[in-house]
Amino acid sequence: MPSREGARRRSERHSLRDVSKTSVTVRVPAKVNLQLSVGPVRSDGYHELATVFQAVGLYDEVIARTPSEPGIRLTISGEGEGTLPLGEGNLAYRAARLLAEHAGVEAAVDLHIHKAIPIAGGMAGGSADAAGTLLACDALWRQGTPREELMALAAELGSDVPFALHGGTAIGTGRGESLTSVLSRGEFHWVFALADGGLSTPAVYGECDRLRDGRSVPDPYVSDMLMQAVRAGDAVLLGKALHNDLQPAALALRPALRQTLEVGEDYGALGSLVSGSGPTCAFVARDEEHSLDLAVSLTASGVCRTVRRAVGPVPGARVIG
Ligand code: C5P
Repeated sequence: MPSREGARRRSERHSLRDVSKTSVTVRVPAKVNLQLSVGPVRSDGYHELATVFQAVGLYDEVIARTPSEPGIRLTISGEGEGTLPLGEGNLAYRAARLLAEHAGVEAAVDLHIHKAIPIAGGMAGGSADAAGTLLACDALWRQGTPREELMALAAELGSDVPFALHGGTAIGTGRGESLTSVLSRGEFHWVFALADGGLSTPAVYGECDRLRDGRSVPDPYVSDMLMQAVRAGDAVLLGKALHNDLQPAALALRPALRQTLEVGEDYGALGSLVSGSGPTCAFVARDEEHSLDLAVSLTASGVCRTVRRAVGPVPGARVIG
């Protein structure tokens, strides 16, 4: 006969296992493109890119829980609460379904996403949520999917999704999904000015094409100055090297961003640019104290909805609980 004490221990172990199986929390960072060089349009309609991504410490949290019934249910709080699609229209939902299909398991998960990354803001918030969901569901469903397979699924979901898993600083080529790590020294202090309302990424790429007006476009490239700045942790040089080919298009669609960039420059930002396809504007500060001053000035000037500070680079999506 098993002892009562043994039964109690077994039952404790059992319930601990259950607890670890029923909920997984993943933290996943936003990105900023230090350089976004947009080349010609490819036959699949995407643009050939050479970009340098940096993951920054502004995070969404994805919580995956074992549901009481099969299916995928998604809830969202924070940025974009009440405005984002909660079904197939949401990339995180599609990420859960894609992983389930790949793994050959039933798609059963309650997903909750707490968002701090602005929506349609050019900081890859939707991509971050998809990457976080892949990782959270993989842990919840105990699949242990190899990293390369997760990266391939991520690339299937969107051009920026692999980088949200990767993190750090990396060069992205192809559509942006093909990544090479970049060694980076120290940390950079960023200030982000979040705008009212988002910009649609396809619309910004479309406007970029319209502004180019059929002119031939050189192959995209990463500048030596930028690589040197990142390798040396040189914020002054980084400020000079920041460049985004989508910026003229984002400014054409949202002229008020010009003023946001000007205010940051007036208050001594080492460099400024529209983040990705915008409308978030990113500023590099000298150090933490300067980033606080810049944040206060941008807030007081009323040229943006709100301001966030973050350091980069930070690691990609991680299970934190
Ligand atoms: O890959 P993803 O679905 O995130 O891309 C969103 C849109 O951005 C694409 O439909 C396309 O209009 C544009 N895009 C592009 N070239 C890229 C990446 C994105 O034209 N390299």
